[in-house]
Amino acid sequence: MDQLINKRVLLCVTGGIAAYKSAELVRLFKNSGSDVRVLMTKSAQEFITPLTMQALSGNPIHSDLLDPGAEAAMGHIELARWSDIIIIAPCTADSIAKLALGRGDDLLSAVALSTDAPIFVAPAMNQAMWRDGATQNNISTLAEKNFIFIGPDIGTQACGDTGPGRMTEPSDIIQQVSLNFSKGLLAGKKILITAGPTREMIDPVRFISNRSSGKMGFALAEAACDEGAFVSLISGPVNLPTPERIFRHDVETAKQMYDKVNEMIDEIDIFIATAAVCDIKPSHPSNQKIKKQQILDANNILLEENPDIVASVKKAHPNKKVIGFAAETENVLDNAKLKLSEKELDLIIANDVSNAEIGFDSDDNEVHLISEKNSRKINKSTKEKVSREIIKYISDNLK
Ligand code: C5P
Repeated sequence: MDQLINKRVLLCVTGGIAAYKSAELVRLFKNSGSDVRVLMTKSAQEFITPLTMQALSGNPIHSDLLDPGAEAAMGHIELARWSDIIIIAPCTADSIAKLALGRGDDLLSAVALSTDAPIFVAPAMNQAMWRDGATQNNISTLAEKNFIFIGPDIGTQACGDTGPGRMTEPSDIIQQVSLNFSKGLLAGKKILITAGPTREMIDPVRFISNRSSGKMGFALAEAACDEGAFVSLISGPVNLPTPERIFRHDVETAKQMYDKVNEMIDEIDIFIATAAVCDIKPSHPSNQKIKKQQILDANNILLEENPDIVASVKKAHPNKKVIGFAAETENVLDNAKLKLSEKELDLIIANDVSNAEIGFDSDDNEVHLISEKNSRKINKSTKEKVSREIIKYISDNLK
């Protein structure tokens, strides 16, 4: 988070229940080396006290547009000029509406009107308010004016509803803000990576799975992050620690991986599917352990197909860059090319898993990068080095 060192951050808090999370946000910005000032609307102060924010930020709170004391020290124009970054979190539907109208009748709206700093908005509201046409129109207006939206997340809400409208978690917000100031080949890009195997339960103790250590996907996630990308990793069951700066979501089944990918894909620029997704699953998983003899007598476990995650993403989002892997044991290049065209991918990365030195669980890999027009080999090296080459290729050819 070096990008935030010495940055002057104005955190604006509006009146929503998620205001309690903004205290954590102050702490995270301070820990990243930023100088933080806090602006609170009147209703924000009903949810969290100015004293808390003052103690955490180490600076007096700004709240009134027409406060003679504040005008002498730091009025709205000075505050607007002082800020390198403005972040409104949480931002209510009402504040979004006000900003979209370009009003200037309170400190927040006046500062927003008069600043040149980038303004980040982390909305937080009930899911119906978020979905409402008026809110969506206001968001489009603000997006056209270069306000940068972070979230909202989908999930359970304080009001008991479930859906989009939860404020993005502070740690995620700070990553996304710092991403805006990051440097590197993929600076500012949002990348989603699937990794590891999936598991499909037959009964509580048995499952079908694919061989995969997850090492390649995790190494790629780190390489992309080193190049300034904001990286989310959706991982099946693996035995690997989460690399720093990477947002990891654990799943078990292919369906869970498919759902998580679809929940996140709208905000993503590049999707890289390294996961060894189990193509099949038992049609009728049992809640109880099935007796061995029962399985032998049936001589059969009824199976059905899982969704093809990478193909479905490209089909639904043809403009996103989508990259797949092909782990093959024979006719490696021909099979990979077939998958490239069947799944309509932008790039497929083929490796020969029949070779133990570069196959499952090994620390090394050797791959071919195949697109519709080009083919390039990356010679045997550590998965870390191969990942850096892959990320460079993606940046040169697909960004
Ligand atoms: O299993 P297969 O060889 O078809 O995998 C090729 C690519 O498709 C890989 O990138 C893998 O992650 C992806 N895939 C997927 N969903 C599936 C099967 C494979 O995303 N159900």
